[in-house]
Amino acid sequence: MNIEQLVKPFSLLFDLKNGLSDDIESTKRNLSKMKGMYADNEALESILEKEDTLAYEFYELELPNEDNNLLFGTSIVYPGKVGNEFFMTKGHFHNVIDTAEVYYCLSGEGYLLMENPEGDWAAEEFTPGKAVYAPGRYAHRSVNIGDEPLVTFFVFRADAGHDYGTIEEKGFRKLIVDNSGKVEIVDNPKWKNNR
Ligand SMILES: [Fe+2]
Repeated sequence: MNIEQLVKPFSLLFDLKNGLSDDIESTKRNLSKMKGMYADNEALESILEKEDTLAYEFYELELPNEDNNLLFGTSIVYPGKVGNEFFMTKGHFHNVIDTAEVYYCLSGEGYLLMENPEGDWAAEEFTPGKAVYAPGRYAHRSVNIGDEPLVTFFVFRADAGHDYGTIEEKGFRKLIVDNSGKVEIVDNPKWKNNR
């Protein structure tokens, strides 16, 4: 191993309830960074006229992006909706598309929405204590359907990388929406099957 890539043992504290760590700085995604991600653009613009709400935050470790390292941290999706669509992460494929990832739900309620280029999709429930496996080739997005922060802990191989662009361009096949108080998974009318 290259001595410059040698990682020393370390530990970090993540709060079980709010997911936050005082040890490192989080990456924050306000709604202004989510333009085009929600089905209802007008609803997003009308929220942004009043306030640039923090939709989610997560931690990115600065470890060498080598296949012998692991990246881990928490993701915190705040409660809220754009139109009838629940707050969510952008979602991504991995650049090394065959790389899997594990999410463990610490608090809150929601789904890990997944889909692969071959046409399969799934929405696995997040409730505290539940571990969800996102296999290789599946894009993944966290969706908060509750009224408290959805906090998950994730681990994946450090060379995987993030392909946000494909989802920014074509979206997910499915949306998770509030239909008069009922959570529903519906087809995304804007989804583009052009991968
Ligand atoms: Fe991932």
